Amino acid sequence: MYRCVADNVYEVGVIDWDRKLFDELIPLPYGTSYNAYLVRGSEKIALIDTVNSGRGAELLEHLRALGVKKIDYVIANHAEQDHSGSIPDVLREFPEAKVVTNAKCREMLMALLHVPEDKFIVVNDRERISLGDKTLEFIFAPWVHWPETMLTYLVEQQILFPCDFFGSHLATSKLFVDSPAEIELHAKRYYAEIMMPFRTNIAGHLEVLKKYPIKIIAPSHGPLYNKPEIIMELYSKWIGAETENRVLVLYVSMHGSTGKAVRHFVEQLIRQGIPVRQIDIAHADLGEIAIELVDATTVILATPTVLTGAHPAAVYAAYLFNALRPKTKYAGLIVSYGWGGRCIEQIKGMLTNIKAELLESVYIRGLPAEKDFELIDKLALTIAEKHRTIFGSEKNG
Ligand code: FEO
Repeated sequence: MYRCVADNVYEVGVIDWDRKLFDELIPLPYGTSYNAYLVRGSEKIALIDTVNSGRGAELLEHLRALGVKKIDYVIANHAEQDHSGSIPDVLREFPEAKVVTNAKCREMLMALLHVPEDKFIVVNDRERISLGDKTLEFIFAPWVHWPETMLTYLVEQQILFPCDFFGSHLATSKLFVDSPAEIELHAKRYYAEIMMPFRTNIAGHLEVLKKYPIKIIAPSHGPLYNKPEIIMELYSKWIGAETENRVLVLYVSMHGSTGKAVRHFVEQLIRQGIPVRQIDIAHADLGEIAIELVDATTVILATPTVLTGAHPAAVYAAYLFNALRPKTKYAGLIVSYGWGGRCIEQIKGMLTNIKAELLESVYIRGLPAEKDFELIDKLALTIAEKHRTIFGSEKNG
């Protein structure tokens, strides 16, 4: 199957309806797709990216259905195997094809897929190649989300092929997104899981893209945009410095003590009129946590003590928090223990990337008692005050 994107531009990739996990790590509740694009010029034909390793036969089938007899250039925007994994299949089928990419990506493709060195044409940032009546320009965009990433721009038709950038893990038969409501959750999940740690780089790349007239954005996961402003405005919001008036409480409880402390804390925040989201991290999906981290102003991690440290689910949540580097302004800990331990030091030691102000931790022995509830109230009131300073909200009486 192939889908026409524009005159002599086709989407020829694979919709993966059934994939449940990416990198054996990231849940895919709505599947995904590996979009690849065939651009037919009057003189040369280019394939922009390929599909996941093991799905090359389907890509070749789609090319056959389109009557493709030769490919001159395989553009590799990104070396990760969900887009590059079928390059060897394409090169076997079209031995005359050359892989067009940057020097860094060539080095990675040689290491990851053993693509022979003589198969490459190396391009520089903003270099162009001609397909006859169509021209491709390569825009380097390092750290979206690997160091070798680049974007390809089809000059005459003003189509941007940004690979992962602006993507979403969404298997859908729909080619173009019609409204922000239709894509926001999927694109935000993707941004949160994949792109958020590279916010600063992405901000720079967005600025570069503002100089290009763009009619269509054709990413390599999920649907395309013929209203590019939909996804560009969402990205501008996510990468911006502003957070939302919300406290995210990531908690796990073994025997109910931490749960009781969290319940009291959340109720106090609600009384103070502060929006709050509580997530049980023992059962949460990684994406659900990541999405909430994108714009929560405050993040509180609550954990019981296991042996001498935090519960493994809390260790994982802290790892995720630190790795995704959200723009959180305030962070804090609520810890419950039976006989001792070093949870607070352990978790704080993990948050080396976090620039948020760390609030005073609440450390509770066993079931929370009156003095503990007072400390929890104090933490909630401190947070409420800070949120009111930023957002000016009123308390609920
Ligand atoms: Fe979709 Fe970074 O690969």
